[in-house]
Amino acid sequence: MPKLTIEASKKYDMIIESGALEKLGELILSVEKPKKVCLVSDTTVYSLFGDIALDSLEDAGFDVNVIKMAPGEQTKSMSSLNRILEYLAEHEYTRSDCLVALGGGVIGDLTGFAAATYLRGIPFIQSPTTLLAAVDSSVGGKTAVNLKAGKNLAGAFWQPSLVVFDMDTILELPENRFKEGIAEIVKSAVIGDAGLFDYLMTVDNPRILDFVETCVIASVKVKSRFVHADERDLGPRKLLNFGHTMAHGIEKISDYRISHGQAVAMGMLAMARAAAKKGWSNKDCTLPIGQVLRKYGIDPACDHDAAQLARAALNDKKRRGDTVTIVIPLEIGDAALMDIPVASLEEIFRLGLEE
Ligand code: NAD
Ligand code: GLY
Repeated sequence: MPKLTIEASKKYDMIIESGALEKLGELILSVEKPKKVCLVSDTTVYSLFGDIALDSLEDAGFDVNVIKMAPGEQTKSMSSLNRILEYLAEHEYTRSDCLVALGGGVIGDLTGFAAATYLRGIPFIQSPTTLLAAVDSSVGGKTAVNLKAGKNLAGAFWQPSLVVFDMDTILELPENRFKEGIAEIVKSAVIGDAGLFDYLMTVDNPRILDFVETCVIASVKVKSRFVHADERDLGPRKLLNFGHTMAHGIEKISDYRISHGQAVAMGMLAMARAAAKKGWSNKDCTLPIGQVLRKYGIDPACDHDAAQLARAALNDKKRRGDTVTIVIPLEIGDAALMDIPVASLEEIFRLGLEE
């Protein structure tokens, strides 16, 4: 059973295994001793895997409550957060009880934020069911909801006690969702693992669990390196935001019709192109990034307007006063942070969008 350890302010494991959900209850007992467990999921995920998780939690002797949210980014909201917090209070959850997030990044970010704020913090477990959540959002402790002004504007750093990834859940994932996870894997490869990038370029059939396992392990290793070095996102962890400043603008302008993973793919290609044109990269990464994304059926072309994107992106947290931090690929496997004046962001986006 592959197991990774994430060392942040709290040290915890990520279990990666086919069928792990059937052992969810006993795995939780190995790290926490809750009386009550509140399982938070979305209706799609719950209809697929809810019974397996519920049976396992009940078999472990927990008093289980279930909250089912609507699927989709709109659920990452203050009103969803409020619903969970009120539910926990009404059912008299205490600090020794715990939350379990069963779902993709939306459920993970929302449930994590509820865990961070209820009673000033109670334990929670991440059980990711999308490739994107397995390779990225379920580890590292960034929790959040969106505000009208932009993505993830209210949130907290709150690490889970355990991450339980049942790889079998990925077998049910629709193709477009699978591709969104690939975009975040490409991100990890570009910023920190050239070997992973080469592997991505050679694989013929990605929809097998060996591929999923290899990519999750490699990506989480890259991520945990940066989280260990900089949990609160003040320095090197920002490299994990490669492509994300533009992506958050794209998501917002499209009213979240363009998904996070798709937007990240567009943002990465644009930033690679802009960095190459500016002479900031040691090697031009535009071609390989475009190639690897297209190999997996991801179209990274973006026809949004640079000025509109820059305005939307500037609500992003990467802005500090008059500067904004962007991530530029130096070469495949290595990236750097660069502070640029806020006024230059539009030009960078324009350079990135013009072929
Ligand atoms: P998501 O949670 O909306 O899931 C995508 C869709 O897939 C949903 O409709 C869901 O019902 C469905 N689904 C989930 N698992 C399934 C399965 N196994 N089979 C079939 N359908 C399934 O989206 P996501 O892409 O997982 O996550 C995106 C979110 O994650 C964004 O809000 C983004 O900001 C956030 N994120 C957070 C971090 C972090 O560090 N906290 C990192 C990256 C992304
Ligand atoms: N997904 C970016 C981070 O966790 O820092």
